[in-house]
Amino acid sequence: MKRTLVTAALPYANGPVHIGHLAGAYLPSDIYVRFMRAIESDVKFICGSDEHGVPITLRARKEGITPQQVVDKYHGIIKKSFEDFGISFDIYHRTSSPVHHQTASVFFSTLYDKKIFTEETTEQYYDEEAKTFLADRYITGTCPNCSNPNAYGDQCEKCGKSLSPSELINPHSQLSGKKPILRQTKHWYLPLDRFQKEWLEEWIKSHEKDWKNNAYGQCKSWLDQGLQPRAVTRDLDWGVPVPLKEAEGKVLYVWFDAPIGYISATKALFENTSNPEGWEPYWKDKDTRLLHFIGKDNIVFHCIIFPAMLKAHGEFILPENIPANEFLNLEGEKISTSRNWAVWLNEYLEEFPGKQDVLRYTLCATAPENKDNDFTWKDFQARNNNELVAVLGNFVNRTLVLTQKYFEGKVPSASSLTNEDQACLELIKESPKRIEENILKFRFRDALFELMNLARAGNKYLADQEPWKIHATNPERVATILSVSLEITAALAYLMEPFLPFTAKKLLKMLNISSKSWKELIDKPLLTKGHQLAEASLLFEKIEDAEIQKQIDKLAVSKAENEARNNGPAPAKDSTSFDDFQKMDIRVGTIITAERVPKTDKLLKLVIDTGLDKRTVVSGIAADYKPENIIGQQVSILINLEPRKIKGIESQGMILMAENAKGELAFVAPTKSIENGGTIR
Ligand code: 2FM
Ligand code: ZN
Repeated sequence: MKRTLVTAALPYANGPVHIGHLAGAYLPSDIYVRFMRAIESDVKFICGSDEHGVPITLRARKEGITPQQVVDKYHGIIKKSFEDFGISFDIYHRTSSPVHHQTASVFFSTLYDKKIFTEETTEQYYDEEAKTFLADRYITGTCPNCSNPNAYGDQCEKCGKSLSPSELINPHSQLSGKKPILRQTKHWYLPLDRFQKEWLEEWIKSHEKDWKNNAYGQCKSWLDQGLQPRAVTRDLDWGVPVPLKEAEGKVLYVWFDAPIGYISATKALFENTSNPEGWEPYWKDKDTRLLHFIGKDNIVFHCIIFPAMLKAHGEFILPENIPANEFLNLEGEKISTSRNWAVWLNEYLEEFPGKQDVLRYTLCATAPENKDNDFTWKDFQARNNNELVAVLGNFVNRTLVLTQKYFEGKVPSASSLTNEDQACLELIKESPKRIEENILKFRFRDALFELMNLARAGNKYLADQEPWKIHATNPERVATILSVSLEITAALAYLMEPFLPFTAKKLLKMLNISSKSWKELIDKPLLTKGHQLAEASLLFEKIEDAEIQKQIDKLAVSKAENEARNNGPAPAKDSTSFDDFQKMDIRVGTIITAERVPKTDKLLKLVIDTGLDKRTVVSGIAADYKPENIIGQQVSILINLEPRKIKGIESQGMILMAENAKGELAFVAPTKSIENGGTIR
């Protein structure tokens, strides 16, 4: 293969990116590309923001800004996070750009002119007041499954059921609040059913052995159910306009335009160079390997729909592989933007400045390559303290410090080599091969393990050889041991670059060498005798318990806030008769005395002047009110409730309280003075 084009899924520009994104698509693709560059292979790394789609318009409405303002804001934040974490795209583009609009538009026209699309008119919900068709997310109503009154037209977020707008009970438009009507609308469809028979099924099946199980498995199940024509246009005012006269007010479906974003970004990469056509071989030459790195939720789009589009177009190559990762959970729960259950990349760097590689390391070591995996802060701390600090950092630091101490920081020369020395030098030659083999098979965890194996071997070698003990008696042997250790250190500096680019840079600087093609690692020594090293400093620092606890506490706050929010208003009770309601005798009263009920946290003993009498009531309000602050407070009291004993005190009625989602209580009292005994009805 002459060249490789690597794409990483275009993230939606409607929120910042979190560790799940990094672990799913961006870190593995970055490691792959950095490795390809290290072996001097022709590679381009493409990404950008996915700036269309309904969620962006919804966020704009929520924040009271335009969709363009939403994507401008998040495009900037996301781009910066990727840069901060060393994700080394050749270009980070965006789908709201003119190049993209033009490319996507021409792509659609090409398929249209080739009569690829089928056309269909269906009935869809329309808001007569807002004069617009409604995307599923813009319609809310009562869930037929759990009666949640705020279910969306595509899903009920309370019970999780997938819905279609026609299933909602009492649907209404999010725009006007009115009941939408059904109206006819025409759309253009990609005939996946036809493609399945003609070539798609066979093409997918030819990848049974080389695609990962998740990608192949999902495709297989789609094929087994039989592919259906898929609409590639939508009634929406945000997106790439459909380039047809009869399609005014319609845009390309976001999943039609987004993957074309890979092509437009590649074009943009070459746009202002001396070779503006340079993008073409990457998309059109059979000698290009096209790889899409994605999360598992994007499989069908990259393995079925986009290849179908590319093939239908006719000028483009198809992807060779689609390395899809499973999901990363956080502390045992699914990462969720809306529940703020995430570690945001921008926030991580505020808390752990300069520690990008620690997160890269942890996420690679626990990458959800074959099954969902869990990120925990304790594991993050352990990986840093027990692996990066205790193994890699410790070995490198001891080697460099001892070389400073015994040889004034100059690389000593080796004399006769023992079996142990030779085994280490062998491992240096072996490691790049083992790492390469794993990376090429998209096994990044195993590749990282091989890197750490070299560091582990070095650490053990130094500990076994104990040069510090023989320095006085056998300086020649010490020179050999350190020369071997320095070779390992230099190999680590080169080999860690795809995984830990920030640390690699630091270590290369300490070794006073510049980066080198991996091809050169195999045959010659990496450091020459007498080479002067620069000053050494620690590569990694221990992370203390308190820093980790702070992160765990932060998640606990998110959880509490979510629970409060999710509890929401309690569901409505069954109806009751007016007569039953009339039976309750509720009066205005005033608290005359209040004291805590001993040995309880929540209870206060109150004496209430009800206008009719003065009576004792035990009320569970101690968490919200101090006894001394409520004397004279007017309240609503149910006076004909049967008396009952609470903690040995007879309670002769009940004070009515309002309660919010957090369980905080407040008195329900008249807003103007009503004398005690006044009725509430
Ligand atoms: O799932 C997502 O975040 C989508 N924005 C991915 C798009 S990938 C590509 F096709 F552009
Ligand atoms: Zn529901």
